Amino acid sequence: MSNPLCPHDDASTNPSANEHLHEVLARSLQRRQLLKLGGGAAAAAFLAGPLAALATTPARERPLLGFKPVASSSADGVMVPEGYSARPFVPWGSPLFSQGPGARWRGDGSDSAADQLRQVGDNHDGLHFFPIDGRSSREGLLVMNHEYNTTTRASGHRDYLTLFGAPPAPADTPERVDKAINACGCSVIHVRRDARGHWRVVLDSRYNRRLTAATPMALSGPAAGDALLQTRADPSGTRVLGTLNNCGNGFTPWGTYLTCEENFNNNFGTTVEPAVDGRTPAQKRYGLAPGPTGYAWEVQHERFDYKKEPNESHRFGWVVEIDPFDPQSLPKKRTALGRFKHENAAWRIAADQRVVVYMGDDQANDYLYKFVSEERYRPGDRAHNARLLDAGQLYVAKFHDSASGGDFVGRGEWLLLDKQANPALREDPQFPNQAAVLVHARLAADKLGATKMDRPEWVAVHPATGEVYATLTNHSTRSLTDGANPRARNVYGQIVRWRERGGDASALAFDWDLFVLAGNPQAHPERSDPRSGSAAIRSDNHFNSPDGLAFDRAGRLWIQTDGNYSNAGDFAGQGNNQMLAADPHSGEIRRFLVGPKECEITGIAFTPDHRTLFVNVQHPGEEGHSHWPDGGQALPRSATLVITKDDGGVIGS
Ligand code: FEO
Ligand code: CA
Ligand code: CA
Repeated sequence: MSNPLCPHDDASTNPSANEHLHEVLARSLQRRQLLKLGGGAAAAAFLAGPLAALATTPARERPLLGFKPVASSSADGVMVPEGYSARPFVPWGSPLFSQGPGARWRGDGSDSAADQLRQVGDNHDGLHFFPIDGRSSREGLLVMNHEYNTTTRASGHRDYLTLFGAPPAPADTPERVDKAINACGCSVIHVRRDARGHWRVVLDSRYNRRLTAATPMALSGPAAGDALLQTRADPSGTRVLGTLNNCGNGFTPWGTYLTCEENFNNNFGTTVEPAVDGRTPAQKRYGLAPGPTGYAWEVQHERFDYKKEPNESHRFGWVVEIDPFDPQSLPKKRTALGRFKHENAAWRIAADQRVVVYMGDDQANDYLYKFVSEERYRPGDRAHNARLLDAGQLYVAKFHDSASGGDFVGRGEWLLLDKQANPALREDPQFPNQAAVLVHARLAADKLGATKMDRPEWVAVHPATGEVYATLTNHSTRSLTDGANPRARNVYGQIVRWRERGGDASALAFDWDLFVLAGNPQAHPERSDPRSGSAAIRSDNHFNSPDGLAFDRAGRLWIQTDGNYSNAGDFAGQGNNQMLAADPHSGEIRRFLVGPKECEITGIAFTPDHRTLFVNVQHPGEEGHSHWPDGGQALPRSATLVITKDDGGVIGS
């Protein structure tokens, strides 16, 4: 998200003295002069280790990236390569049912809260395609996140930009707040290709479902029931209403969806003596606002007022597991995975069959984590697998500057966030039990000296090698400078990657390197200027603020951006937010797609045959200058793009 209402994630809430990644990088890169190896040479070196055999698939007859790159664009439309088509699908407000409330999208913002409850939500983000029978590429459940409500300061105070139509308007009644609540969360949408090859919503399907910021859900795992999670409405500490700020996503090998709660803090404020900052240190560390919020949910629902219900915010900031094939199922907030501003969740099976989930905490100076399940994954045993995310160990990453001993810049280790096993946490009164470690995972990670990162966004696991890539989107307010890696004002971001020791996802040590440093050779043509980016960055593929990240089955790395679209200054020539594809072997990066004005490109899902690609366009016209996708004077609407190759081929080939 890039929401003008929010205290930006670029502002750190981390007061600890832990090292920044750039400090580590600076020393390592200085020593090893690897800055310019961010592209092909580094990729070759990266793959030269023990996993090289896995990575080196038989010589390809054709290059991995087979499409003609698109130029940057500032137009209010979607650009895809020659020979491809992109069609808007399931925009905000699309009906999921043919009768009753919400069956007709009005288009002027007058749809009610009850209508919105039965329509596709707003601000599309992470998504996944679940084949209806486990393998179909023609029919399935498209499950997606609806991150937040777009607001504007244009009128001098904070108004919802499009939710109530034009002009922007505040959520100043219970009905309006409830509409905002119902526009967030997730959609489960039964979709099918028709005879002409067009994807359609299966209206009235038993699978169609909206989950909102008020849908009943369970808190499960080690922290469930703890005093920190108990409220007046839920003394059990196990039942919560809703999921919100659903940013990136994940899925599991047993066919469930993971929605990741990111900037939940933005929906908590207070109307009680708003001039008095009553926040606890932990609430500050998690970024709750001291006074009223622009969303105004705390005005209508006391649980969003941190002075009236101090524990309610503890019940957000989790990874939530949803079974899309059971519309009656209760979504589960998996507390074993820790509470922070979750971006996405990427799994890999360890050598001993335990499940590993990689996760980023998107804020300046926050951390990368991984969860390792206690029990092993059993293919085909859904009842057993459904409990895997409730017990295990949570780790946070420390990137050391000492050389890896191999071809990488450095080595790293995973620090255990366990009250009993870790002496640093055992005696700390901030953590009376393991539930406190999980609810306040950021504070525990501070205590262990985890490495402060430049805003971790998505994590993706290479399908063949198991190597892990993570976007660090930017950190433009960083003040420290260094010579070798001039990223004190890191407006471009980078992609870091690591290889677990021995190739085992459950390893406690890893070796890391940079895949690419984003930059702008047009604005900063001196190649010795780190702002020009690493070697793979050229005049025809530069971008800023990598965010969404995913591998396809063939190993193409898809990179989506949520950054500055001014097309000026540091960002000249970069145009609107975009999606690129990279070849991890060669380091080559090509621009594949450009979105409409003032949007973010996020969320990625393929059908099993990889001949349909679903990608989300979030908040087009967030500054009021787009009418995409409907055109004319229509309200802009977040929507999914259905991308196909005109010859029916595999996307990206
Ligand atoms: Fe919702 Fe970090 O992006
Ligand atoms: Ca994101
Ligand atoms: Ca972002």
